[in-house]
Amino acid sequence: MQTISDISALRAELKQWRLQGKRIAFVPTMGNLHQGHLSLFEEAKKRADKVVVSIFVNPMQFDNANDLDAYPRTVEQDSKKLVEMQTDLLFLPSRQTIYPKELDNQTFVEVPDLSDQFCGDSRPGHFRGVTTVVNKLFNLVEPDVAIFGEKDFQQLFIIRHMVVDLCMNVEIIGAPTKRETSGLAMSSRNGYLDDTQLQQAAVIYQALTAAKAKLQQGDNDFAAISKAATEQIVAAGLTEDFFHIQNADTLADAKVGDKNLVILVAAYLGKARLIDNMAFSVG
Ligand code: PAF
Repeated sequence: MQTISDISALRAELKQWRLQGKRIAFVPTMGNLHQGHLSLFEEAKKRADKVVVSIFVNPMQFDNANDLDAYPRTVEQDSKKLVEMQTDLLFLPSRQTIYPKELDNQTFVEVPDLSDQFCGDSRPGHFRGVTTVVNKLFNLVEPDVAIFGEKDFQQLFIIRHMVVDLCMNVEIIGAPTKRETSGLAMSSRNGYLDDTQLQQAAVIYQALTAAKAKLQQGDNDFAAISKAATEQIVAAGLTEDFFHIQNADTLADAKVGDKNLVILVAAYLGKARLIDNMAFSVG
């Protein structure tokens, strides 16, 4: 695996691959790689001749400086995992490379409305940071296909919108969420939890599953279902952020008769803000 930090070296290498007619898959990450990421790399390998992974802890998507500082940086271990996964190229830019003018004067890309809801409401500016850095990374890598985890449902939804709105020539693929045996969605943020908290956090999956079962049985009292799920999460010792039942195709509030639903949930436990979701059909 080649590791490249410099933009011109990256472009030179990718140009060679393109001249050879290679199809390029890209998986952007912030590192601290876990089993969930590995499934994204597997998906990437199936869809292209060459796989590029980036590791960049993007300061623009953190609304809180402490959260940015505390974010786990494990480049050495990550690099070993990427070699084992037979990744072709690791792009490891510095903050200076991605933001030479720092953040205040940075041109940004923002998908309106959607970026201010749910996680965007709890973390103002977060999705502006995500879409801006994903744009920059797409402009640098120019991938044929890019893979994102479905765990970040809203992020994936917003990126799909951005790609359509800006006529970007990249296919976006969502890869299913990987879960621990308890049902807890795998996430870098789980590293903030001790063993007891990891067990407590499984309530998010249990609440999602219970709510999904009610909806699939024809219950459409969305407010009551959300309230019961929130009470279940709070009773397990977590602090509620939100539990919303939405139309999976539009992210609008779910209405009776909607066929495709998604439940979006976020909750705090110790130092971690945990998110999860479940998308499914009813009726
Ligand atoms: O999902 C993530 O890890 C990040 O939001 C991403 C897409 C790599 C952008 O920094």
